[in-house]
Amino acid sequence: MVAYDRVETDVLVMGMGGAGLRAALEIVSRNLKVVLVSKSLLGKAHTVMAEGGIAAAVANVDSKDSWQVHFSDTVAEGVYIGDYRMAEILAKEAPERVYELERYGALFDRTPDGKIMQRAFGGHTYRRLCHVGDKTGLEMIRTLEDRVLHTGNAKLLDETVITKLLACNGSVCGAVGFSLRTGKFIVFECKAIIVATGGLGRIYKVSSNSHETTGDGIAMAFEAGAELRDMEMVQFHPTGMVYPPGVRGLLVTEGVRGEGGLLFNTKGERFMLRYSPEKKELDARDVVARAIYHEIQNGNGTEHGGVYLDITKKGAAFIRKKLPGMYEQFKEFAGVDITKEKMEVAPTVHYFMGGIRVEPETARTNVNGLFAVGEAAAGLHGANRLGGNSLADILVFGRRAGISAATYAATSVAPKLDYREAEAEISRINSFIDEAGRGSTNPYEIIDELRDTMSSKVGIIRNGKDLNSALQTITVLKERAKSVTVKGGVRFNQGLLGCIEMEKMLLVAECVVRSAIYRKESRGAHTRSDFPNKLKEWKLNIICARNGSKIDLSTVPVPEMPEELNALVKPEVYA
Ligand code: FUM
Repeated sequence: MVAYDRVETDVLVMGMGGAGLRAALEIVSRNLKVVLVSKSLLGKAHTVMAEGGIAAAVANVDSKDSWQVHFSDTVAEGVYIGDYRMAEILAKEAPERVYELERYGALFDRTPDGKIMQRAFGGHTYRRLCHVGDKTGLEMIRTLEDRVLHTGNAKLLDETVITKLLACNGSVCGAVGFSLRTGKFIVFECKAIIVATGGLGRIYKVSSNSHETTGDGIAMAFEAGAELRDMEMVQFHPTGMVYPPGVRGLLVTEGVRGEGGLLFNTKGERFMLRYSPEKKELDARDVVARAIYHEIQNGNGTEHGGVYLDITKKGAAFIRKKLPGMYEQFKEFAGVDITKEKMEVAPTVHYFMGGIRVEPETARTNVNGLFAVGEAAAGLHGANRLGGNSLADILVFGRRAGISAATYAATSVAPKLDYREAEAEISRINSFIDEAGRGSTNPYEIIDELRDTMSSKVGIIRNGKDLNSALQTITVLKERAKSVTVKGGVRFNQGLLGCIEMEKMLLVAECVVRSAIYRKESRGAHTRSDFPNKLKEWKLNIICARNGSKIDLSTVPVPEMPEELNALVKPEVYA
């Protein structure tokens, strides 16, 4: 007999970051039952790491801004393989979602005449980032949390790990997991599931992501039959902390450059003038990250492997007002006063443009009843995301995913759940604990090796030899993963959580590496030294689909834009 609790709901939302919370509001407002689950704690989501602002063409600071320019920037900086319809929806709906967030209680910085303040960010034609100092994501999540909690109608289960989605006759019907807090297994029965679990930044060693960001939702959706796309597209944010080692990778907001911060190498040279004479420090993230990478590789980096970011010329009062988080972060962790001293920075894995393939309007996946949103979903950002578009994304598409899932749940009959499948999964999870004959490998040995491999071989600049070597390592690690065991019980067992995360990380990492091998060109965040040019024949999206235990790769052409949208976008140029 396998013991477990049963939780029944209309919609199960996986993830309690901005996307999941925004979606939940729509479900509650339609009087449907919603359960939100997070393996971490409420409020501890990567949303807070989008510090510098929400991109929305409200045109408070630059009156020439419009949804058309925001749309055009998003398509062009996504290097023309993003979903144009998603970009159009984002650009048109982001302003209303920002004002809505304000009505919910978010406190934005203000222009002298009392409007929401906006700042410059890389790749945006105009000052477009609506912000709260350098804590915009935090303010967003605080506001959405308050709003969800005050409805009183959403059930929130944090410290709860979902390990598998259950599908019955091609439609999702539930999920299996366990509570870290109680140690009890849980079988969820539902009509619809929204995956809002974020990206996979922690498959890398140096990342701005919190430790929970291990690609779980993407992996589970894939295992349930959902297609993935653009899995090769990993965004390196140009500026993460480099020293001391304990905070390596921690985000240094683009807001620093947006407010006038400049980059220098150890020769005192403002090197972005060479790499990007027009946009300089405010070019798109892929461009600035590559420039910093090359400076460090060419011996122009600091002893800790970084370059300098300097905002001292703006003066202490300005810095402490506009960038209070950065001021505290450097003072506290590095003993550096950024009002007087330069920061040391280097690229850090920050965002995942790839993920679950969704319909632009509805956030539906190819599996009935399964929806995906935010960083777990792919399409909007193409080959490179503009800073600030992630917070806009989770507001715009969080709302849409909530409406779609609620509509679906309200009009469908719950498929009958096969309890034997749920019980088999519980037995499988239990078998990680001390099962005789499994072996004695520690899951964190495998996770560490995976992270080292991803960072050293699947980084900013890639090549076929390294990528194939990474794939070989992953194949070996998958074999070794069969022998992981941990001691103890289920309750607060970090080792058991490590076993679950390790499996998901290996799967999504394999999709990233296989897709990176497949794309034989350089585009946006995917740069290959052996295929240095962007190629017309690669204006395609790579799709990963599950075929038994194998990953099938195929390509689909990027759809042509309707003429009226095409007319808004700068034509794509090939060398
Ligand atoms: O640099 C930042 O503040 C990050 C923003 C984002 O990723 O959207």
